[in-house]
Amino acid sequence: MATLKFQDESPFVGIRTRHHHSTDFRYTQFLKGLSHVEIPPKPLRLALFGLGRAGSIHLANIVANPQLDLKYIVEADKTKWDSFRAKWGLGDVQFIEPQDSKAVFESSEVDATLIATPTFTHENLVLQSLLGNKAVFCEKPISEDREGTRRCYETAQKAGQPLFCAFNRRFDPSFREVYERTRTGDVGQVLLIKTTSRDSPLPTLEYLKTSGGIFHDCAVHDIDLVTWILGEYPIEVHSIANATIPEIRNINDFDNVVITMKFESGTMAVIDLCRFASYGYDQRLEVFGPKGMLSVQNDHPTQSYFSGNSGVSRSPIYHSFPSRFLHGYQLELEQFIRVAQGSEENPVSSQMTLAVSKIATACEESARSGTPVSLNWN
Ligand SMILES: NC(=O)c1ccc[n+]([C@@H]2O[C@H](COP(=O)([O-])OP(=O)(O)OC[C@H]3O[C@@H](n4cnc5c(N)ncnc54)[C@H](O)[C@@H]3O)[C@@H](O)[C@H]2O)c1
Repeated sequence: MATLKFQDESPFVGIRTRHHHSTDFRYTQFLKGLSHVEIPPKPLRLALFGLGRAGSIHLANIVANPQLDLKYIVEADKTKWDSFRAKWGLGDVQFIEPQDSKAVFESSEVDATLIATPTFTHENLVLQSLLGNKAVFCEKPISEDREGTRRCYETAQKAGQPLFCAFNRRFDPSFREVYERTRTGDVGQVLLIKTTSRDSPLPTLEYLKTSGGIFHDCAVHDIDLVTWILGEYPIEVHSIANATIPEIRNINDFDNVVITMKFESGTMAVIDLCRFASYGYDQRLEVFGPKGMLSVQNDHPTQSYFSGNSGVSRSPIYHSFPSRFLHGYQLELEQFIRVAQGSEENPVSSQMTLAVSKIATACEESARSGTPVSLNWN
């Protein structure tokens, strides 16, 4: 038999020296759960602000995480309280209205706050939390403008508490793998990095009106991803944008954007954004260099295919951020717990968040003026 010569020793030989590949983060989590060696630190006592799209993702992860002890939920819409309490078994959690938030900031029973309210409320909640000596996890963006973001970080420094900006894409296992392989030189000096971010479903007009605009609401994620992977900030940006959806045009925002960036090292970046892709939440990344290309393609909820006489088809890509970035949100929250408990450095530094905000502002300025904008980092 032709392959008999390849017969190896029994698979039982050396079985204990074999390990799973580091990319199988779910198996790593499984092993952590199985371990009886480590005694975990005391749970972090938390207050959650906002039970909307982002807040409900975080709530699911909080409830599932034994390292968190949820003490308060602050939610402006009282009609949500009973159903959330019943659905998630939150009998011991105190629900309060925003005007009573002082109870959270002054409580000695709360170590940290997680802020997932509309963007215009962030700065005040971040500042009050820090003045109350809490660690803060805040949804992006930290504030509506750069000055507000700076005020928040200065207060965090004075309070000696971490302010963690939730750039969740960094925690997506696929994007993180690209980051790590770029940093170990797999593609060599990066010539071009490209992201595609097309939203799905179309957000509500109510959300869009308070979102801060596509540059500060959406582009910040891509700008963070690009600059995080490269470890460099652009010296020039040039954007073009249009608003093809009349309702978006009427609120002076855009729904399609292309951003190009030039870096001192010679690397170039292209970010392609859209508010609405009819086929699902389109999230792709490519890092190209002389030695190769790293890329992340869209993920599908199922792995089955249909083959018929007109071709092969499969399920659409993930519909939206809660499903596409499910694991990223979990890993992000776990990282925040370690930061708040002091066992790890805050990976999203104030410099990075402020730089992202400065770049997003420059990109918007370029789109509105029609000219490239230079950026100075001295
Ligand atoms: N990282 C991500 O992937 C991601 C995704 C979506 C939204 N976000 C961010 O999360 C934030 C919230 O967005 P969303 O889409 O969840 O909004 P949303 O409108 O769905 O939810 C906001 C919730 O906050 C409540 N609320 C309003 N003011 C409040 C206050 N002062 N105190 C307590 N509750 C209050 C509202 O009643 C609502 O339930 C935004 O800053 C947004 O940029 C991040």
